[in-house]
Amino acid sequence: MKAKSLKPMRLEDILFSQGFGTRRVCAGLVQQGHVQVLGETVTDAGEFFDVQDLHFSVQGTPWPFKEHAYVLLHKPAGTECSQKPSTWPSIYTLLPAPLRQRPQKAAVQGVQAVGRLDQDTTGLLLLTDDGQFIHKMSSPKHHVPKVYEVTTKHPITPDMVHKLLSGVVLEDDPKPVKAAACEAVAECHLKLTLTEGKYHQVKRMLAAVGNRVEGLHRSQIGGLVLGDLAPGQWRWLTPEDLALLKS
Ligand code: URA
Repeated sequence: MKAKSLKPMRLEDILFSQGFGTRRVCAGLVQQGHVQVLGETVTDAGEFFDVQDLHFSVQGTPWPFKEHAYVLLHKPAGTECSQKPSTWPSIYTLLPAPLRQRPQKAAVQGVQAVGRLDQDTTGLLLLTDDGQFIHKMSSPKHHVPKVYEVTTKHPITPDMVHKLLSGVVLEDDPKPVKAAACEAVAECHLKLTLTEGKYHQVKRMLAAVGNRVEGLHRSQIGGLVLGDLAPGQWRWLTPEDLALLKS
């Protein structure tokens, strides 16, 4: 992906664009000597910097300038993918404040989850403030494959695998849904690839073939794998990660 060239920006605008608070707060942070750019403390909030590949730190926290934020979170069990959770802590509490506060034109602020995982589901979750990316990744038209590791209550039979691959009917939807790939990797462990994201889809598909999901983990989206990121941890997506997702 070719990066487009970005105009130099004033330091207070840089901080504001990255979610460090209102323009007034950002100007204050700079004037009080809390901001370092390229290792030097800068106290003029109006000083211009090239933002391409710019790294700065605010109150000792290093931060890279990103025109859009794209992050990968290892969602732990017992968290909700909602800004206003009903029962469990929100996944957004696992992210640093600037990611939650990035200014947006829309009513919502900060990065948003690309689709949702259930409270008890673990694994790979993408978050971004790029609305077009969210739309593209979530649209059924784009068929982005998502790989789930499913632990089942009952042993998986060849008939169940066959039905999951050829299509099962879910109660509120007459059109059968099928897995793009399905492989029993152990007696009660299934690797399932879906290209759609209907509500509780894995759980409902397993119920439709007479089994039950006991554990659900998403390990891959498109060509991007979760890797060894610990539950509750997040990281920035690299340009290579983005290329894997967009290809
Ligand atoms: N399917 C489900 O049933 N739950 C999830 O969290 C994701 C896919």
